[in-house]
Amino acid sequence: MSNAEHHEGTRRDFLYYATAGAGAVATGAAVWPLVDQMNPSADVLALSSIRVDVSGLPEGTQLTVKWLGKPVFIRRRTPAEVEDARSVDVSDLIDPIARNANIDGAAAATDENRALDDTGEWLVQMGVCTHLGCVPLNDAGDYTLEGNVGGWFCPCHGSHYDTSGRIRRGPAPENLPVPPAEFVDETTILLG
Ligand code: FES
Repeated sequence: MSNAEHHEGTRRDFLYYATAGAGAVATGAAVWPLVDQMNPSADVLALSSIRVDVSGLPEGTQLTVKWLGKPVFIRRRTPAEVEDARSVDVSDLIDPIARNANIDGAAAATDENRALDDTGEWLVQMGVCTHLGCVPLNDAGDYTLEGNVGGWFCPCHGSHYDTSGRIRRGPAPENLPVPPAEFVDETTILLG
């Protein structure tokens, strides 16, 4: 899901709640328990941004954390993964858009526009296949490098993502989205 869609979804939810609330006023107290259940609980709201310590993550591996109820892949890439990701011509991509919430929504899907840092060592993306939402497997698929390093594969219907998380083969229409993320110190990534 792109960031724009995410915001749209949030707005729709808000309008829905507002309408439900107005209905509750008109029809009586019986509606309130339902409305209340639909509101995010305090602990969910508190987790809208999280800090992740990545100091123990070895190169060529990833950490999966849960953010807003969804998996996020934080990958520390090897130089070979970065080199592979950066050697791809954007015109060869199925989805030419970076899908990075941290930069311009129209930015091209170069690896430089998707990686978290300039060297490309760190790649943070949603672990949600853009086809129908399965969680892709890491270090798998047609774009995995020698030694089974890098790339993602969604076994649900066979979508292959490259070493930058870009869709390259299969039914998924978009690259894995990059969520709002930044380094707040040398070893801590803030999500959200
Ligand atoms: S959900 Fe991933 S390929 Fe269909």
